[in-house]
Order: sequence, then structure tokens, then C-alpha cells
Amino acid sequence: MGKVYVFDHPLIQHKLTFIRKKETGTKEFREMTNEIAGLMAFEITRHLPLREVEVETPVAKATCKTISGKKLGIIPILRAGLGMVDGILELIPAAKVGHVGLYRDPETLMPVEYYVKLPKDVSEREMIVVDPMLATGGSAIEAINVLKRNGAKNIKLMCLVAAPEGVDKMKEAHPDVDIYLAAMDEKLNEKGYIVPGLGDAGDRLFGTK
Ligand code: PRP
Ligand code: URA
Repeated sequence: MGKVYVFDHPLIQHKLTFIRKKETGTKEFREMTNEIAGLMAFEITRHLPLREVEVETPVAKATCKTISGKKLGIIPILRAGLGMVDGILELIPAAKVGHVGLYRDPETLMPVEYYVKLPKDVSEREMIVVDPMLATGGSAIEAINVLKRNGAKNIKLMCLVAAPEGVDKMKEAHPDVDIYLAAMDEKLNEKGYIVPGLGDAGDRLFGTK
């Protein structure tokens, strides 16, 4: 069964509180979302394999470490996942970025797919799916279905805020996928919004309504 990790790092929690506030404007919301994503990526990449390389410093030869293996794939779920990409790329600039476009039908809350473009060699890369919100779980489950249909085998899901309902559905649908969160909230409301959540992440990131 997939594991769920909630990052309690004070910097992550502090910045998350800031973006939850309804008076936080688009500029700050965008900046902080990227900053949180970067901090979470730092924790998530702790396990990356290293190999030894020989380098010459100005003083002597040294045996040092460098990250080995294929570059990571970062997969934002459009639109709101885009708000996390720059913060991750600041830390992992060589990562490949794929896009999965989904929106939630406002009536049925079911995900509707409208765009998919993935990096090459999906089956050989570790893929990190990113989206600020895991609400009913429908969007993240479908995005991971898309990745698996394209051959992905090693997938992680990184979200800022989740509802327990979405986490349970995700664990059931994709038990091989670990979930990384900044917060596990209380519940979903009758419109499928996370309570207390932070509102509509896409609208707050892009200044739309
Ligand atoms: C939001 C959010 C997730 C989805 C979560 O996207 O960014 O993708 O809802 O809800 P779920 O877990 O119930 O599927 P939305 O559909 O509002 O599209 P947007 O990012 O284009 O605004
Ligand atoms: N999508 C959002 O952007 N916010 C929620 O609370 C739920 C889904």
C-alpha cells in the first residue's frame, strides 16, 4: 500500500499558512506555492541514487558523489500543477517536464482530459506528479492512469493540501504510489472543495475566476 508523508518542516508550514489566507494575492500566492514545492522536492529527492566520480579541486584529486540514473520527470496536472514547476526546477534544473491537462467537470467532479505530452523514456524515469490539491482524487488518479498507460513504473504524487477522501481513493487506485503532502485537511465540502483548504488553486495562481 502506498505511504502518505506529511511534511511538518516549519518553513513549509509557515508558507502554507500564508497561502491559505484569503487575502493573499496572486503574486504572493504564486511565489509561495513555488517555494513550498521546492522545499518539498528537497525532501522527496533524499533517496536519489549517487555514484562516485573523480574530480580535481584546485588542491588535490578527490572522489566525490554525483546523482546517477535518468533525469527525473516532473508532471504537473494543468493548470494548477504549473504553479509548482518553477520551484522544483530551481533545485533540479535538468529534470524533464511533461504535462497532463485535466479539469474537473463542475457538475460530476469527474476529470476531463484535454492534453498529454510526456518526456521520452517514461518507463526508465522516476516521475513526480504535482498538483496543489488532492480533493476527490479523481484528477490525480487519472493523471497517473495516463502515465501508467504510457509505461511509467516509478511514480510519486506531490500535493500541497489533501482531503482524506482523496487520499483513500488514491491509495486504493494506485497502491504503488507514495503520496507527499504539506497538509492533510479535514474533509471535502458538498462542492468538492477541501475544507479548510485554500480555495480554487488554479484561480488563485492565475488570477481567474
Ligand atoms: C483542481 C486541482 C486539481 C483538482 C483536484 O483543478 O488543481 O487538479 O482540482 O480535484 P480532484 O482531486 O477532485 O480531482 P481544476 O479541475 O479546478 O482545474 P484547473 O487546475 O485548471 O483550475
Ligand atoms: N480544486 C481546488 O483548486 N481546490 C479544492 O479545494 C478542490 C479542488
